Amino acid sequence: MASGRGSNFQAILKEKQKGNLPDVEISHLIVNKRKAQAIKIAGKYNIPYNIIESKGNTRTEFEKKILDIFKEKNIEIIVLAGFMRILTSNFINIYKNRIINIHPSLLPAFPGAHAQRDAIEFGATKSGCTVHFVDEDVDSGPIIMQASVNLEKGETENSLSAKILVKEHQIFPKVLQLLCSNKIEINDQNIKISSD
Ligand code: GAR
Repeated sequence: MASGRGSNFQAILKEKQKGNLPDVEISHLIVNKRKAQAIKIAGKYNIPYNIIESKGNTRTEFEKKILDIFKEKNIEIIVLAGFMRILTSNFINIYKNRIINIHPSLLPAFPGAHAQRDAIEFGATKSGCTVHFVDEDVDSGPIIMQASVNLEKGETENSLSAKILVKEHQIFPKVLQLLCSNKIEINDQNIKISSD
């Protein structure tokens, strides 16, 4: 599921194309914005997609439309790749521990929509990205993998975002393959990754 540029979606598709995601089948894309660039990427890689806009739908209708598609297609794992709408606990519970999200900070530091800007304004010397299971709170849920970057003098929101994005494109596909090959165990908030 995506809302915008779709570079993480593309990174996953590229890794799949390279043969690095043998247990991952990328079946469908849902976007909630008609102008999302992710749609073009889906077209390029022949991935079926639906545009389901929040506008004109109640929250329940919006989520039901998505869930109906997922049910019909037997979707097992949901990847939030820059999906910028909060999902209800009803939706999250249906896919409990099967929704992953990527966030551009080292959570729990700097949750929210301006993670890179917040890190700079705070004066952090390190930031990065986090892949986590989605729970009922925003940018919360058990952390699966993180990657860090250093902030340099004069770092801007753009330069930091670009640096972090490189790391996002590395760890997100990696986590997806681990999840789809049943290598991620979750007990309460504790994550165990088996390494064989
Ligand atoms: C990424 O930086 C991702 O971490 C962030 O949105 C961007 C999407 O880029 N997600 C969040 O901030 C979620 N809280 P993309 O559309 O090019 O993948």
